[in-house]
Amino acid sequence: MDPFSLRLNLNSGDVKGNNLIVESKTLFDLRYSIQNQKALTKLLKNKKDIEVYTVSTCEPGHTAAHLTIHVTRLKPGKIGEEFFFTKGHIHKKPTAEWYLGISGTGLLLLWNKNKHLVLPFSRGDLIYIPPGWAHRTINVGDEDLVFLSCHRSDAGYDYDFVVEKGAPKRILASDKELF
Ligand code: 6PG
Ligand code: NI
Repeated sequence: MDPFSLRLNLNSGDVKGNNLIVESKTLFDLRYSIQNQKALTKLLKNKKDIEVYTVSTCEPGHTAAHLTIHVTRLKPGKIGEEFFFTKGHIHKKPTAEWYLGISGTGLLLLWNKNKHLVLPFSRGDLIYIPPGWAHRTINVGDEDLVFLSCHRSDAGYDYDFVVEKGAPKRILASDKELF
């Protein structure tokens, strides 16, 4: 494989290049993680669905020798009192991940068997997620929250872990002390 480059606009958060796959997640995709089902029904009234975030991914290879990067763009918004969030996962293989905030105002919720942390996450914050820590991002601002992440390409994803056990913390508009 030859080296290659992508282009990330650090102001807009837009990423361009070959080898990029863009996927989107909607409120429907998040439905089992949303506690306030009444608020969800209200939001979706007269709408087919609402996009909550997109993830642009470049995965040069699928083995442990490669590194995958993603740029996530998480929209601002709330379901009732709860801010828009990413589904959240733990990596199947206990591998680490780096997060870099590009724009917007967010929080990163991190948890393992014993404890959870909520870290402020905005432009310039570089956060190291050690192996074995589940993670979810929350947009607590009025603009898109854009961030880059990088992990070993064979890490794999476990989403059921989060859906079945639930996240240890929900971030509500009233949680003002956190942001
Ligand atoms: C990853 C990163 C990150 C994450 C997205 C969407 O491992 O790829 O943690 O890119 O996948 O922000 O979040 P969900 O994968 O939880 O939907
Ligand atoms: Ni991850």
